[in-house]
Amino acid sequence: MGVHSRLTGLRDLSPGERRALAAKSAGLDPGALDVLDPAAGLTLDQADHMIENVVGVLGVPVGVATNFRVNGSDVLVPMATEEPSVVAAASNAARIARVHGGFATTCSAPIMQAQVQVLGAADPQAARLRLLEARGELTALANAQDPRLVEFGGGVRDITVRLVPSGEDVYVVLHLVVDVRDAMGANAVNTMAEAVAARVGEIAGGRTLLRILTNKADLRLARARAVFDAEALGGPQVVRDIVHAAALAEADPYRAATHNKGIMNGVTAVVLATGNDTRAVEAGAHSHAVAPDGRYTSLSHFERDAEGNLSGSLELPMPVGLVGGATKVHPVARAAVRLLGVRTASELAGVVAAVGLAQNLAALRALATEGIQRGHMSLHARNVAVTAGASPEEIPTVVARMLAAKAVRADRAEQILAELRAGAGAAEGD
Ligand code: MEV
Repeated sequence: MGVHSRLTGLRDLSPGERRALAAKSAGLDPGALDVLDPAAGLTLDQADHMIENVVGVLGVPVGVATNFRVNGSDVLVPMATEEPSVVAAASNAARIARVHGGFATTCSAPIMQAQVQVLGAADPQAARLRLLEARGELTALANAQDPRLVEFGGGVRDITVRLVPSGEDVYVVLHLVVDVRDAMGANAVNTMAEAVAARVGEIAGGRTLLRILTNKADLRLARARAVFDAEALGGPQVVRDIVHAAALAEADPYRAATHNKGIMNGVTAVVLATGNDTRAVEAGAHSHAVAPDGRYTSLSHFERDAEGNLSGSLELPMPVGLVGGATKVHPVARAAVRLLGVRTASELAGVVAAVGLAQNLAALRALATEGIQRGHMSLHARNVAVTAGASPEEIPTVVARMLAAKAVRADRAEQILAELRAGAGAAEGD
């Protein structure tokens, strides 16, 4: 049975009912996501094995984004975030993208790189060539550190050497270019870099210092594109204004930072939900946002296509994995990966890029039309109503009246509740 991501009415259910429906719609057994119940999630004991000096665990809401169609298949997307509106906005944008088939994604091979820094080589130019001549020897030495990776079709693909001038010095910097398959790959490439360092120093005729991966993972790219229907967006003027909004981000670093933050709202939420390293993905994204001329710019592009619809595209490094680390250890991350139904790290990377593009489009559309505060205010109003003591039946009325009066405040919520209850009491007394 295929996955269905068009789950209307999800928000009217309880969290437990939503879990069961999401699991069923993803073709899983109804209890497959029950580990997402805080009472069943990461135990203190499990946490104690993950990091040091553990004193507790942090609960972050996990929502399910609906309507996503990626490369012709529906997918339900788990998103971990503390920010209101993010999950709803992504689902909304995915609904608009569906009109023209959803998201198309591609990924490069899962290539990570590690750097080995050499200091004090007397002849850096010649040292570079000597290291390139030793490609076979260094490759064998590095691959010997991870026979399982090689067995699974990964391992060193290339060795490159760069000369990096800094003041009086010229550092010889060797890169191990490694296919890490379904791992995020930090451990694999760091182990290899440490293993080859001494020999690299000998060949280069210098002292090795740093041996570490680069988070500028520009050989491990994920790309997503989608056509957003002009009518569903609100008409041709909205399309034109979104293009202008995106153009400002391309031209102005102040806007680009916020524009890219909107993309990362979606990206980080999926990366976190699947137990991946959010900082690695963020470091990669921001380093990729630097144009060849050194300007910080936007990661995505928006254009009007020949039919007048909005064509959006996004490319960014996506160092995420499915094996090793928290993805395998954290029960919630495991359930999130099951919900996604992805079988390879590249499939996961493609979905993350699609969510980033959806999130970006949702923000731009809101900014180009009514602004983002209205959407935020309805969610904020819900929280105010709950804090004022509204029951689940009373919440919609309290929220609607506060929004209509443009007064989303605790005192107003309490007043509306008192009026509602007095009215209900009078009706019962009739
Ligand atoms: C808020 O978390 C994200 C936005 O600021 C992104 C944007 O401005 O594009 C709405």
